Amino acid sequence: MIALSDEYQRKKWSDLVQHRFYLSDGVRNDAFTRAIENAVDAESTVLDVGAGSGIFSLVSARSGAREVVAVEWSSLAERIDESARRNGYGDVVNVICEDIRNLVVGRPPDVVVHELIGGFLWDENFIEILDYVRKNIADNSTQFIPSVVSLYIAPFSADGEIDRLFWSEKHEGFDFSSLENVATQRPWVEVPTVVFLNNENGFLARPRNVWRWDSRDREPNMRRIRARFVAHRNGTLDGFIGFFRIEVCGGICIETRPREPVTSWGQMAIPPMRRVSVKKGDSVSFCLTPSRWPMDWNVVSVCTAR
Ligand SMILES: C[S@@+](CC[C@H](N)C(=O)[O-])C[C@H]1O[C@@H](n2cnc3c(N)ncnc32)[C@H](O)[C@@H]1O
Repeated sequence: MIALSDEYQRKKWSDLVQHRFYLSDGVRNDAFTRAIENAVDAESTVLDVGAGSGIFSLVSARSGAREVVAVEWSSLAERIDESARRNGYGDVVNVICEDIRNLVVGRPPDVVVHELIGGFLWDENFIEILDYVRKNIADNSTQFIPSVVSLYIAPFSADGEIDRLFWSEKHEGFDFSSLENVATQRPWVEVPTVVFLNNENGFLARPRNVWRWDSRDREPNMRRIRARFVAHRNGTLDGFIGFFRIEVCGGICIETRPREPVTSWGQMAIPPMRRVSVKKGDSVSFCLTPSRWPMDWNVVSVCTAR
């Protein structure tokens, strides 16, 4: 099962659509670029874990790194080599086409750059991969970019997201109003889904930090996540919104909160166990067992009157 999944991932990542998406994410690229420029000097060796298009290997080389090792397991690896040459960094960037978990390097790198944070946080296997890197490749003085990733959760009512008007109007002269009922009666999302919200009007309570990964932690944290919220308004609990705070390095952060500039991550919409009415002051409990596969997420939500 694991081998099959890895094979699927490797093929998926050969697809340029993904990398075009990341190269177009100015918020992400700007934050990583500033962090790399701050962390790298002429003495630095950099390991780019999951280099993809090679963008952060090139940024590291441009920032003056002495040596950059770009590790990419998909067929894109040979393109990184070519891009490094075309940009004049062919003698700085060394490309290895391999699963990083098969790699042992002699001297620990000064900087590890990684961007394996999935839309569903854990779905690109970043916990396992970074754990391997930390235990087998890096040492205590290695600077990780990003260094900390935190997950925030807020209970959510989709009232404003369900476009009743759209479904009640005719389109191409046809009546689609039966879908208005579908939109309003069914859960807003039936399975964990990436969404792009542009405001926090649907939040039923203040978001809470429920999970954190820190490059200095000795062991990865995949314990059950529990959180309790107090609703600050009435509404239907349609799900939970998850967003990230990524501490890239040296005070540079990316937040994927709906109120922040949009990124390629969007937000995670997680369906509740069942839709319930929530009144201001009610307590909403949330419990999620993290796993790499969002379909395996075992989410429990309970609403109790205070
Ligand atoms: C989200 S993309 C990021 C690409 C690039 N670093 C960027 O930020 O634009 C993750 C990349 O990591 C690669 N990757 C995932 N798991 C890997 C592994 N175990 N070993 C090597 N590369 C891996 C994927 O093929 C993909 O290109």
